[in-house]
Amino acid sequence: MIPVPGQHDRVYPFMAHSDYYYLTEQQSPGGVLAIDLADDSETPWRAFAPEVTQAHRTWEGDVSWEGAPLAELSAWLVERRGRAVVMLGCPVGGYGGGVDTKLSAELAEALLHARRVLDELEIGLMRKAAAATAAGHAYAHRVLTSGEAAGMTERQLQVEIEAEFFRNGADGTPYDTIVGSGPNAAVLHFAPGDRVISKGECVLVDSGASYKRYAGDVTRTWPVGGPTQTQRDVINIVIDSEEAGLAMCKPGVEWHDVHRRCSEVVLDGLIGLGALKGDAAEMVERGVAGLFFPHGVGHMIGLGVRGAGGRLPGRAPRKGPGGVGVRVDIPLEVGHGFTVEPGLYFIPGLIDVAETREKFGDAVQWGVVDSLRKEIQGVRIEDDVVITEGGCENLTAGIVKGLD
Ligand code: GLY
Ligand code: MN
Ligand code: MN
Repeated sequence: MIPVPGQHDRVYPFMAHSDYYYLTEQQSPGGVLAIDLADDSETPWRAFAPEVTQAHRTWEGDVSWEGAPLAELSAWLVERRGRAVVMLGCPVGGYGGGVDTKLSAELAEALLHARRVLDELEIGLMRKAAAATAAGHAYAHRVLTSGEAAGMTERQLQVEIEAEFFRNGADGTPYDTIVGSGPNAAVLHFAPGDRVISKGECVLVDSGASYKRYAGDVTRTWPVGGPTQTQRDVINIVIDSEEAGLAMCKPGVEWHDVHRRCSEVVLDGLIGLGALKGDAAEMVERGVAGLFFPHGVGHMIGLGVRGAGGRLPGRAPRKGPGGVGVRVDIPLEVGHGFTVEPGLYFIPGLIDVAETREKFGDAVQWGVVDSLRKEIQGVRIEDDVVITEGGCENLTAGIVKGLD
């Protein structure tokens, strides 16, 4: 438990490491899962959990954690001195000499790869998260497209969306809800505040519900009231890009290639609007896409919003197409959970830079860009999929994304 500085007995909310939770389904602060590699019995695993005290019962109610008392861990380790003992889901230092840190890291890596493939139980939990997520987004869609949300603050909209999640089965939110209205939609992870939403602007809502720590993560971008033609065009570019990404989600496809394809569709859309000149594929490699779509096309999802993630064993870290950071670097496999979430933003910090304008002056028609951004500043469209034999199942397909 980590104390909040200056707040006496307050601590930050505790969240057990995903590996620990995956194997024990419990959130016991300080809990440890240890395995004696020389033990060839059926149960070489040993869970140690903090003892439930009177204080726990008084302040937190009827908590119960399975496992031997944590106080017995040291003696258990001493008995095994000289044998290979590994631990998961906890900092392995600090328990004395008995723990093999190198083997613990190798086991954690192996578990990460194993956890990438979601089983039926996990997919069931994701469906529950997706259903609650859908209810919140249905509310946002209704009040934004009808114009009813005009006059609400971003914070009010956030609270109402989250209330819908909880009314519809959620037991948490896997990340802080993002509601960016008007220019705030050009901030990738904008924290909703007291800005009042107005008719005629667009609002980006990136929000999800969770259930038993399994996550939903969905983004929609809506005009408040009817869209202008420019708003419609820009939103449709991102919808087309996302659809192209979803169509690529099949076993064997490299995640970086999904990113490349989605980037090309965004640039083709901008070419269509006269904002770019040239060949989309070449411009992606040159870094033009990164000016308008500066994040990876998605991430693994499942137990937590970032799921298991990572790279294939043996793969060195590398940037994505055109130098954009695409952290996940694996080919897709049946059972993988992914978000697909391309975006198109006009971010002042990226495009209002004199050298950038000059460097890309042959490709980017800056006058057209400046005119588009008067009406719409940021769009992202995001769904959650599970890879299947024939392609993927979009768990959040029921959440409307197209403009009427
Ligand atoms: N929902 C935040 C993200 O996708 O990064
Ligand atoms: Mn996401
Ligand atoms: Mn998201």
